[in-house]
Amino acid sequence: MENRLTAAQVLDPKTTPMVVAIVQARMSSTRLPGKVLAEVAGRPMLWHVVNRVSRARWIKRVIVATSENPADDSIARFCAQEGIACSRGSETDVLDRYYQAAREYSADVVVRITADCPLIDPVVVDRVVQSFFDKGCDYISNALHYTYPDGLDTEVFSFAALRQAWQEATRASEREHVTPYLRAGKFRIANVENDVKISRPLRWTVDEPSDLDFVRRVFAAFSGKKDFGMEDVLDYLNMNPTIQELNSSITANQGYLRSLYDEAGSGPAPPRPLEKSQSWLRRSQKVIPGGAQTFSKGHTQYVEGVAPLFLERGKGCRVWDVDGNEYIDFVQGLLPNLLGYAHEGVNAAVARQLSEGHSFSLPHPLEVELAERLTRLVPCAEMVRFGKNGSDATSGAVRAARAFTRRDHIACCGYHGWQDWYIGSTTRNAGVPGAVQALTHSFPYNDAGALEKLLEQQPGQFAAVIMEPVNFTAPHPGYLQQVKELSQKHGALLIFDEICSGFHFGLGGAQKRYNVIPDMACFGKAMGNGFPIACVAGRRDVMKTFEDIFFSFTFGGEVASMAAAMTVLDVLETTDALARMEAQGRVLQDGFNTLAKLAGLSDRLVCVGHSTWSLIKFRDADGKDSLLLRSLVSQELVKRGVLSLVTHNLTAAHDHVAVQQALEVYAAVFKTAAGWLEDPDPARFLEGKMIQPVFRVR
Ligand SMILES: Cc1ncc(COP(=O)(O)O)c(C=O)c1O
Repeated sequence: MENRLTAAQVLDPKTTPMVVAIVQARMSSTRLPGKVLAEVAGRPMLWHVVNRVSRARWIKRVIVATSENPADDSIARFCAQEGIACSRGSETDVLDRYYQAAREYSADVVVRITADCPLIDPVVVDRVVQSFFDKGCDYISNALHYTYPDGLDTEVFSFAALRQAWQEATRASEREHVTPYLRAGKFRIANVENDVKISRPLRWTVDEPSDLDFVRRVFAAFSGKKDFGMEDVLDYLNMNPTIQELNSSITANQGYLRSLYDEAGSGPAPPRPLEKSQSWLRRSQKVIPGGAQTFSKGHTQYVEGVAPLFLERGKGCRVWDVDGNEYIDFVQGLLPNLLGYAHEGVNAAVARQLSEGHSFSLPHPLEVELAERLTRLVPCAEMVRFGKNGSDATSGAVRAARAFTRRDHIACCGYHGWQDWYIGSTTRNAGVPGAVQALTHSFPYNDAGALEKLLEQQPGQFAAVIMEPVNFTAPHPGYLQQVKELSQKHGALLIFDEICSGFHFGLGGAQKRYNVIPDMACFGKAMGNGFPIACVAGRRDVMKTFEDIFFSFTFGGEVASMAAAMTVLDVLETTDALARMEAQGRVLQDGFNTLAKLAGLSDRLVCVGHSTWSLIKFRDADGKDSLLLRSLVSQELVKRGVLSLVTHNLTAAHDHVAVQQALEVYAAVFKTAAGWLEDPDPARFLEGKMIQPVFRVR
């Protein structure tokens, strides 16, 4: 069947497809046995599900599909009493259960609903079914990434696609969870996005006692009103925010992740061919000190002999090395590729600019347009100057601050680039004069007292406080405001280094998210989706100092990168790219932590931070950083096709398929690592030289 309907078909009841909702239900939940018949507002939960789904206009029949297990007889009895169609099948092969039920009821289109979602909304169900027909795909869902509350999950697929999955899917997880095979890359799939913006993950599904408590409270609040829907519940929760706290700490998709973990193989993966990589490294080391232009891209950052050393090509979230091996890339050039490699819109804008010239003898209007746009988007920006690297921006801002305040000392927190003023304060300070080193003082994050003490040590001498407003630790409530007040009190300018937080934490950066406006801010990395562009933006009177200091270089006004930046801003302003990144990043981060727990490694492997830029902590048995564990995990990830340093640098191109693949890889790697860590000498499993740290700054 062609899944796209003509207008005539939509209007003709004889030819409209048979859309059947199949509600899967079983009594034997491990976390909350019998939940599907648990009482909610005087009725079994399943009654609410069936009743609400039946109200969707597109649904011609609702069938409960349960197992033949005697424990599920009570579900069959309940259906018989209520006159609900019930189909029984395999307990573990739920894909078969669906297929048989869909065939029995001559379904053209199947809507999959699970019985643990009593707040399912018929309006949402209709919207997903409608989108299925509008888009003409094989499978559509509103849960490929969460823009709807978890618990309104509606999956819609054609009977033909179901039959194909039923014939071809072989893995236990694909049979038990019905739809993974449909989402694994073979079919035309799509996600339906919520028009209602939801600022945080909401959990409305029932897996645990606290979920049931939550759902009962919501139904009680609407007692007497039968047809309340998502928006009513959202309004209610906005007015009663503590209700959602009842179950907010529970992670989604636990059952699926357990299946992934159970079926993951353990043991080292076979090596990949890397001869060309090795040969390029030999050539490179003869002519390029260190063999790379950036420390973090060098051969010491991965397990030597196991990992690729040179990449040749990238598209979306994937890269290919010089030997032709493919990887899901969580490094993304060290964060710049916000939209993924070779983004067509960005490349087209750059190509257009290249055809007209891009390094001119006088300024180009695009400089003004981009600066104007940034002043609209970034709260602190009244004026803007451009650079190429993040270090241009941070060093320019520091120089401007010194000139503006006529002071020399700098307080810093985080990493700020390769220039003398900053790098002199780290352990990699060779070549930086002692006099320069003595002017920069670092202070710890989230400790306003420590900053106050530092500023008091040399009163009247600090030109600026420069800091990453956030990286992998969220600021304590009020902390950034305290930093601002302390800077003001001591006459120092506040500079936010938003080279990383800029755009990964939202348009407008962390300053907008946390509503603390600095005097200046620096952006770079993600601005041009891989094209070299950075900027300092800030208060007009401070930015005017750039007219007096020397901040001037040949490529400062290079316009192809500005064309790239304009397109990046277009995409971020007009699409849900950032929301998708956040949602996929959350699935990845929660999945990582759940799998680590299943492997018994939750105190050794932890993924922390914001979902678009999360950090993996590798710990030894004493809780200290473990380079050995990092190396072992990195070795096994890369052999299985996942390229990663210690962070997940999400892009808008990391789609559902990539994230699920990565989670499968994590399942196998953690299972393997768990076995190795029981060995008295886990280092013997290392197949090459251990990773060497560049230096710790975060
Ligand atoms: C927070 C932060 N500031 C500044 C920089 C320096 O940027 P660049 O390497 O582009 O000079 C970096 C680079 O990683 C960074 O993470």
